[in-house]
Amino acid sequence: MAWRNADRMNTADDQPIVPDEPDGSGLSRRQVLTGAGTAGLLATVPVLRSTQRAAASTTPAVDGTPEQIHLTLGSDPATSMTVSWASPGPAADARVLLSGPHRRPFEIPAIQRTYTDGLNGETVWTYHAELKHLRPDTEYSYAVTAHNSSAGPFAGTFRTAPKGRAPFRFTSFGDLATPNTNWVLSYGQAAFAVAAVESFSPLFHLLNGDLCYADLNPAVQPEVWRDFGNNNQSSAAFRAWMPVAGNHEIEFGNGPQGFTSYLTRYHLPDNGVPGFRGNWYSFQVANVLFVALQGDEVIYQDAGPLVSGPAPLTPAASTGNPAIDPGTSFYIRGYSGGAQTAWLERTLAAARRNPSIDWIVAQIHEIACSSSSTGNGSDRGIREAWLPLFDQYRVDLVLNGHDHDYERSFPVRGFDHMVGRDAVTGAPVETLRPHPVTTTDTGVFDTSKGTVHLILGGGGTSANLDTYGLDAADGLTQAKVFTKPNHPIPGSAPGTFTRPGADALEDAVWSAKRDTSTGYGIGVFDVDPGGEHDESTSITVRYFHALGADPTNPTTGQKGAPNPNYTLFETVTLIRPRAHKH
Ligand SMILES: [Fe+2]
Repeated sequence: MAWRNADRMNTADDQPIVPDEPDGSGLSRRQVLTGAGTAGLLATVPVLRSTQRAAASTTPAVDGTPEQIHLTLGSDPATSMTVSWASPGPAADARVLLSGPHRRPFEIPAIQRTYTDGLNGETVWTYHAELKHLRPDTEYSYAVTAHNSSAGPFAGTFRTAPKGRAPFRFTSFGDLATPNTNWVLSYGQAAFAVAAVESFSPLFHLLNGDLCYADLNPAVQPEVWRDFGNNNQSSAAFRAWMPVAGNHEIEFGNGPQGFTSYLTRYHLPDNGVPGFRGNWYSFQVANVLFVALQGDEVIYQDAGPLVSGPAPLTPAASTGNPAIDPGTSFYIRGYSGGAQTAWLERTLAAARRNPSIDWIVAQIHEIACSSSSTGNGSDRGIREAWLPLFDQYRVDLVLNGHDHDYERSFPVRGFDHMVGRDAVTGAPVETLRPHPVTTTDTGVFDTSKGTVHLILGGGGTSANLDTYGLDAADGLTQAKVFTKPNHPIPGSAPGTFTRPGADALEDAVWSAKRDTSTGYGIGVFDVDPGGEHDESTSITVRYFHALGADPTNPTTGQKGAPNPNYTLFETVTLIRPRAHKH
């Protein structure tokens, strides 16, 4: 039961999702069922896994069959690509066979990266092959295999990015989870969301953090990751999926910030900062610089895993890791000592000196501008650490996850000061409210005048968070804002712990559009660099949503089910002057 309780409580994301049932138990039916189902697995899986591992190590039939195959862009997306995968056991001679139109097929050996999960003691085997010296805008086919694979080679394809000013499409959402509903927060929509990416055939997909919620299933973290990787493979083996780590990538026992599983599985562009490769990074495609940032470094909210008690979280004996006391949360604010923000400033400054870059798109899991009332809301930590840099270097667009909904801000620049209030006392609070440069929703915005923030948190979790704040007194939209840490406090049951919600409120004058019909959807972005003599360049943003997919629609109360049909919710056009004209 210790595991079940830890499951239920150790997410900032899902704490506010389901209000306490009238019986006062504090458990919704969903939570009871999920927790009970998981508890059974939790009790047995670590034992089974350690037995399997022992057997594998003493027999020659180690299974090196590739699975969870996924692509990530190399440092230059026009000329490089990385193929990554995992296998149940150590693979022998793991390799990629690459074929292209202008070269003979040849083999690229993979490097092996492993880790041993700090909670259940299972060793995870991953492989990464960097393909370099490719031709821009060219279709390649590849095969993944190993000497001890029990299946035929896995065949995939990809297209390299164009070089120079060329149109391209990317897609984005966060908070995906897996389709295996045995796992906490997993839901069938996760499979349809992957199919949605494929249906739009983007050059690449941005995955905005909270990938699979393995941390909420602490005895089976590698199994959850496995289901996640195998679900994504039908798209991610054919186009790059570029992730950013969110709060649910933080795992007890897995490294100083808990990101060991994430960082082992993904081979990401090098940021040049020793010790933090993969935590944050950038890459350029055509006239756009993409900047992936790790938000847990700057947010105030305590959003990593939490042992809610009353029992401690006890890792498998094989790990040698001690039990973790109830009330312990994994809080990593400030972990790079400012290295990430210094890197961000260097990267943005260089981008604005580079005449080949018009657009800067940032990807951060947590949110500066969210008015979700059942989700987490906004965080002043992002506002004070990074929004001044976004202003100074005219970042165009910020893509988020974290709250499982869709919300678009007006372009914002600078702050409205001292307009927030304490959520309990009503006393004035500095929330650093982003200042909208317009509050007219024309559908066309010049993002050189202000940064648009877009929440795309409706990947596929079981928890829709599409209920938005309203100030009953004046009828205005309202946002919750974390302005200080919400560390664990004693819960209602003896020996248990919980984390309070955001401490402040503000009128959300920056909020332009919220989708109240469903939390689930995908952003589709078409970049038009403009012709040689054009003054400006544009990105057409379309948001498609999966109506009826909410387990329960918060507005109508209607019960829903996973839905494969994504339909258009809205289109907006972002424009900005070309860099050399600026
Ligand atoms: Fe999150």
